[in-house]
This record gives sequence, C-alpha cells and structure tokens, in this order.
Amino acid sequence: MKRAWLLLALLVLAAPAAAQAPDGAALYKRCAACHLPSGAGVTGAFPPLQTDFLSLAGKADGRRYLALALIKGIAGPLTVDGKTYRGVMPAQSMLDDAGIATVLNHVGNTIAKGGNGFRAFTPAEVAAARQSGEGLTSANIGALHGKLSGQ
Ligand code: HEC
Repeated sequence: MKRAWLLLALLVLAAPAAAQAPDGAALYKRCAACHLPSGAGVTGAFPPLQTDFLSLAGKADGRRYLALALIKGIAGPLTVDGKTYRGVMPAQSMLDDAGIATVLNHVGNTIAKGGNGFRAFTPAEVAAARQSGEGLTSANIGALHGKLSGQ
C-alpha cells in the first residue's frame, strides 16, 4: 500500500515537469542542421558555437546579443574567430523565451562545454532582451556583433 502511494506521488510530481520543461538537446537539433551536432560549424558558412559563444555569454551585452540572435536572426557580415560569414541566420521564431533560454543553456553547457564559467540564461533575461531589441533587424544584430567582439 505504502509503495502504491509512493508511486502515485512520483507520477504526480514527474508528469507536469516532463510535459513543461523544454528539452535542450531536442531543441538543439534545429541548430545542428546548420551549426552541426558538435557545434563546430562550417567555415565560411555557419560559425562555430564554441569559443566566441562562451566569450559573449560572459558579458551582459554579449548575452543580450545571443538572445537577440535567436529572436531576430542575424544577417552578416559577421567575423567569428577571424573568419568572415556573410550568411543569414533565420529568426528562431518558433521558440518562446523559455525555449531560447533552454537551447542557449544547452549550447553553453553541452556544446561549448563552458563548465562552471558559464552562467545559465533565464526566460526573464531572454524576455528583457526581446523587449529591448524590439525595433532591431537581423542586420542590426549582425552589426552588434562587430561592436562587441571588436572583429
Ligand atoms: C538555417 C541555418 C541555421 C540555423 C537553423 C541556425 N543557425 Fe545560427 N547561424 C547561422 C548563420 C548563417 C549564422 C551567421 C550569420 C551571418 O553570417 O551573419 C549563424 C550565427 C549564429 C550565432 C552567432 C555566433 C557568434 O559567435 O556570434 C549564434 C549564437 C547562433 N547562430 C546560434 C544558433 C542556435 C542556438 C540555433 C538553434 C536554435 C541556430 N543558430 C540555428 C545559421 C543557422
């Protein structure tokens, strides 16, 4: 009897969490189509999501840029690790604030392996970036990168 209650309690606790929490690895699959499953990217076409990502994630303006890159998309030119990209990244408009935070955290933790130095994004932080970037275009986001990285 005790066991049955425990099982029921576990089911009740686990079910809503599983239904609500966006899964970073699953969301990253859409990114992997271009940036590759490893995040290594393709030189000249799709930038890597590694060193530059972690360096941006370490600065307030860089974090805003990363969130806006997904919200608005990016139009180049963009220089990452000394290589120039003149592509267009489509806005990931199917992702809400929680989805964007989750996929950025998957990149920071698992793809770029930021370790303890990587600070997690929250949906509230993404919402603030979304609001502050309302009037910006994907080309504005590309230009923002140049100012941030000095490249
Ligand atoms: C259709 C291809 C495509 C998809 C899908 C895509 N990207 Fe991109 N991404 C690009 C391209 C192209 C660029 C460079 C844009 C440019 O040349 O201006 C880019 C740039 C970026 C940058 C900027 C890198 C830097 O160092 O400044 C980040 C961050 C990024 N993508 C993350 C993601 C994430 C996370 C996803 C999944 C949610 C994703 N991308 C999905 C093509 C894509």
